[in-house]
Amino acid sequence: MRKPIIAGNWKMHKTIAEGVALASDLMAAATGELADFNGCEVVLCPPFTAIRAVADAVKGSAIQVGAQDVHWESHGAFTGEVSCAMLIDAGCSWVIVGHSERRAMFGDTDESVNRKVKAALAAGLKPIVCVGESLDQRESGLTHDIVTAQVLAAFNGVPAQQGAKVVVAYEPIWAIGTGRASSAADAQEVCAGIRTTLSGIYGSEIASEIRIQYGGSVKPGNMQEFAGEADIDGALVGGASLNAADFSGIIRATGVAKNRR
Ligand code: 13P
Repeated sequence: MRKPIIAGNWKMHKTIAEGVALASDLMAAATGELADFNGCEVVLCPPFTAIRAVADAVKGSAIQVGAQDVHWESHGAFTGEVSCAMLIDAGCSWVIVGHSERRAMFGDTDESVNRKVKAALAAGLKPIVCVGESLDQRESGLTHDIVTAQVLAAFNGVPAQQGAKVVVAYEPIWAIGTGRASSAADAQEVCAGIRTTLSGIYGSEIASEIRIQYGGSVKPGNMQEFAGEADIDGALVGGASLNAADFSGIIRATGVAKNRR
């Protein structure tokens, strides 16, 4: 049984004080109605500048902290970049890799995503690897090919015991920040395809351990549908993770759906 994982990708939002306030509100929710986060793993991914403060704020709670990107080299003349060891030092146990915004705007490629995945795993950080098709690609019937190629590239050369630690986030680009989520059935179809691809790499036992999130306009009101699907093990949440009530609502809905499954 895979434990659902809900991660909040804050993107370029929240100062240190705002991030700490949001984390504190979530912790307050966790001690009340959302005890033990309804059996979900919860990860917050603030911007680099707020990581240390948020990690300190959630210390002793079940909330974990991740970064939104990382460089694959351990150190050196890479202006503006941050290494895996630096993220761990700041309090991270997770890192998002290959988000479509980084692929589209900041030059991430399948190859650099693979390097980042390997570097993260080697350092002891757990990667959340993002994959997903554009609207053009979906309308041209290319979703399966694009997502399969992204998954194969991301896991290239990653041994099975390491691969099992990775979380895959399926985020159709057209659903990100648009308010237009995928249907749960369409997302399930792609996520099942991702699991089949993982099965081809690692065999069905390891593939059945790897968690696959859906991302793209996830809200408290639609999460139960996604979490009710067989191959969807949580969500990578953008906009709705910036508000404690919405993010808690998503965790609550995931718990409800999983208990029914
Ligand atoms: P939204 O939830 O704002 O659509 O963003 C999804 C996303 O990109 C998470 O990484």
